[in-house]
Amino acid sequence: MTLAAGPTADTDPRVALHRLRAEVAKAVVGQDAIVTGLLIGLLCRGHVLLEGVPGVAKTLLVRAFAAALDLDMKRLQFTPDLMPGDVTGSLVYDPRGAAFTFRQGPVFTNLLLADEINRTPPKTQSALLEVMEERQVSVEGSPRALPEPFLVIATQNPVEYEGTYPLPEAQLDRFLLKLAVPLPNRDEELGVLRAHHQGFNPRDLAGAGVRPVATAADLAAGRDAVGRVGVVDMVLGYIVDLCRATRVSPSLELGASPRGATALLAASKAWAWISGREYVTPDDVKAVTRSTLRHRVRLRPEAELEGVTVDQILDAVLGTVPTPR
Ligand SMILES: Nc1ncnc2c1ncn2[C@@H]1O[C@H](COP(=O)(O)OP(=O)(O)O)[C@@H](O)[C@H]1O
Ligand SMILES: [Mg+2]
Repeated sequence: MTLAAGPTADTDPRVALHRLRAEVAKAVVGQDAIVTGLLIGLLCRGHVLLEGVPGVAKTLLVRAFAAALDLDMKRLQFTPDLMPGDVTGSLVYDPRGAAFTFRQGPVFTNLLLADEINRTPPKTQSALLEVMEERQVSVEGSPRALPEPFLVIATQNPVEYEGTYPLPEAQLDRFLLKLAVPLPNRDEELGVLRAHHQGFNPRDLAGAGVRPVATAADLAAGRDAVGRVGVVDMVLGYIVDLCRATRVSPSLELGASPRGATALLAASKAWAWISGREYVTPDDVKAVTRSTLRHRVRLRPEAELEGVTVDQILDAVLGTVPTPR
């Protein structure tokens, strides 16, 4: 996902939201596509899964993104002994009032970085997935709404499977996007070293010059605008055809569901709008297909043994399904 030049009109919330990329770049070298993905998540009210090895600036990026939007952010490390109440909050006894009061868990924030989500057992994973969907925590029957916006950014290490609990497809489906956080190329890594050599301190984002450049109001206006993005029937048909093609691919044992198709539609609209268009083109759909569908399909074991990847299959699907013109 790479974006062309942004819009220019001052009243356009896109201008403010485009500034986010430059602001995050004051702390993070590269990883532009991840910033765009997080923005799509916020615009679509969809959560984001980040897959990457440790040390590629996932945490730094989310912190800088939160600072540039002036949003509250919390990081929660998912460990084998984490309990559902450690995520959502729990009732605690208050001896003075001789009553139970609710102590909010870390989900009561705008951006929750759920680190290494597959290191925690299914029960605690489910607690998080439930609040992701419902955007509220129910304790003793009384619902408590989460702040707005609320975005979960969960991380997963692609190389570590020992002692982990992989999320089942039904739960992965709740993430709008799955983004791969790549290792930097040589020039980018040089840039990281230069910044550190010159005194960049990842703990001090304000010192690095990261300032709030967009507001919750810009986000809300952006969300409204995305809702007005047009999609002609031919493009809707293209999205359906792509998803249907994943269901008959000989390399896949599980294709994208209709929920996956609706996710692809939503992400395409947000992408089109961020890119400066008021309607979705087939190229907008193509641009987000991998990140929207890669976690919603499953390779056949034979294909996996042959070393085929899900992204290769999705590229093949994009190459074979006729593009409407
Ligand atoms: N692309 C990058 N830009 C700037 N700093 C980076 C980058 N990649 C790694 N670093 C440095 O390495 C650290 C990686 O830490 P962190 O954000 O915790 O990574 P992760 O969460 O992916 O494990 C950063 O704090 C920063 O010092
Ligand atoms: Mg981290």
